[in-house]
Amino acid sequence: MQEKLNGIAASARTDISMAQSQEDLKKIQVTYLGKKGKITAVLRGMGQLSPEERPLIGSLANKIRDELAALFAERELQLRKEEQEKRIEAEKVDITLPGRPQELGHFHPLTMVMDEIADIFLGLGFSIVDGPEVETDYYNFEALNIPKDHPARDMQDSFYFNPEMLLRTHTSPVQVHTMEKVAPQVPVRIIAPGKVYRRDDDATHSPMFHQVEGLVIDHNVSLADLKGTLLLFAQQMFGSHQQVRLRPSFFPFTEPSAEVDISCMMCHGKGCRVCKDTGWIEILGSGMVHPHVLEMSGYDPEVYTGYAFGMGVERIAMLKYGVDDLRLFFLNDIRMLRQFR
Ligand code: DAH
Repeated sequence: MQEKLNGIAASARTDISMAQSQEDLKKIQVTYLGKKGKITAVLRGMGQLSPEERPLIGSLANKIRDELAALFAERELQLRKEEQEKRIEAEKVDITLPGRPQELGHFHPLTMVMDEIADIFLGLGFSIVDGPEVETDYYNFEALNIPKDHPARDMQDSFYFNPEMLLRTHTSPVQVHTMEKVAPQVPVRIIAPGKVYRRDDDATHSPMFHQVEGLVIDHNVSLADLKGTLLLFAQQMFGSHQQVRLRPSFFPFTEPSAEVDISCMMCHGKGCRVCKDTGWIEILGSGMVHPHVLEMSGYDPEVYTGYAFGMGVERIAMLKYGVDDLRLFFLNDIRMLRQFR
């Protein structure tokens, strides 16, 4: 019995010293000192011993139990410390490592150009209005004097939700929304920047692009006001040497209509590849608001006149920065965009 107890004690000592974790140790403790543990079993079997043996074995078993309990406590402390140290080591921060720099962002070149256009017109007394990108056939076409079978619709094929609803093909419908809202008050002096959509896709066209619309209505507004305003715009946008020229054109919602050219900023009017040797570059469409358009939206064409214009933001940005493919603006290539910080 005595030998058995000493044997159990010896193997317990080894097991305790070999325990690799607190969890391990707990299990070992149960196999020796638990209710069904080896030492407990010996103490339970004491009834079979002779009266002389009983106190001897009893005191030895108690001594061993106390010794093991102390060993378990000691080892547990040790393991807990080790595990804590391991955790600290794993979570350690190397304060000598260099930091991760937070890169400063910047606006997209098209946003910058749109802001610049808006600033120029704000300076001329215009205000900025917004309109919906999903339009009805009425606002996108009908109210702009483009009836259902008008050939002008062919150039502006768009994305339709149903026969009456589409993604707007130009910002001109904002003219109509504005007039409906404020008619017959004057003066109206607004620009409307925003996204427009067309079934187009090549180096100079994208299915989504941006325009800035302009509308002025008042008493005695003339073509001279239009030309003067656009001359000021061109000079602030591209340089004070700029000239503008109006070329007769056609838009259903203006009469007369004009394409507006600015002198070529690459060759200063001498003629080059960019202006196709003409010395002039087209930047927008414009004209005097058609009497029928005024009338449909609540302005008496006998009392009021107005002018309107619409420019493509991508086109202005390409000219200003010398970008030769419009699609570059939409590739989200950071190497391209970074150049416009
Ligand atoms: N909406 C025309 C387009 O997208 C551009 C335009 C031309 C707008 C003449 C106007 C204008 O306001 O008067 O092609």
